[in-house]
Amino acid sequence: MIGRRTMTFNKEFWIQRNQSINVDWTAKTVVYCRDVFNHIELPKGKVVMLGAAYSLALEVMYSRFGDRTVGVDRWNFGNHPQCIERDIFDLEDFDCAFVYCDIASFGHIGQQDPCPRLTALDWSLRNLVKGGYCITRLNGYTDEDRKKTKLLLEIAAKHNVGITALPAEYSGSDWHSRDDVLIWKIG
Ligand SMILES: C[S@@+](CC[C@H](N)C(=O)[O-])C[C@H]1O[C@@H](n2cnc3c(N)ncnc32)[C@H](O)[C@@H]1O
Repeated sequence: MIGRRTMTFNKEFWIQRNQSINVDWTAKTVVYCRDVFNHIELPKGKVVMLGAAYSLALEVMYSRFGDRTVGVDRWNFGNHPQCIERDIFDLEDFDCAFVYCDIASFGHIGQQDPCPRLTALDWSLRNLVKGGYCITRLNGYTDEDRKKTKLLLEIAAKHNVGITALPAEYSGSDWHSRDDVLIWKIG
């Protein structure tokens, strides 16, 4: 295990990583956010991108939901006015209609203790209002990744939620929506 504020997961690490996979309009989060709200109806509450990075997907949300939109990241890399700089471990609770849970990454589950991604899922499901939705990566296919799925499912089991596939199939050059799930708050 690595401590929560180590050199490994410092700002430079996330700049490098975000510039390699989250830097243009073909990013998975952008593609999802352009379409998924045509398939689900949101209750009242904030529309949140946990792990905003350069805020491209956040901007797509903002163009649809305006001031209901909130981005959260340890660093506001894109200087988006709707993004607040916050460590997930210090994020206050507020009512959410939708959370895209994308703090750190699925691949990093188990590499830090406490784990930002697991803390982010717990925050998401705790703060969803009844009828609210969360998108996150849940599915893993290797033995190692299935252990990560198990940890995420243990968190989901603590909340009154249902889990299903995304409402449509999406794919990009190196990603597919089969990895991700739509979670909804039953009550
Ligand atoms: C996979 S990227 C998010 C990509 C983004 N959702 C997009 O659409 O482009 C993960 C983000 O989590 C942030 N992050 C990592 N650890 C964090 C923590 N403890 N608290 C808050 N944000 C964190 C990183 O700064 C990084 O921008």
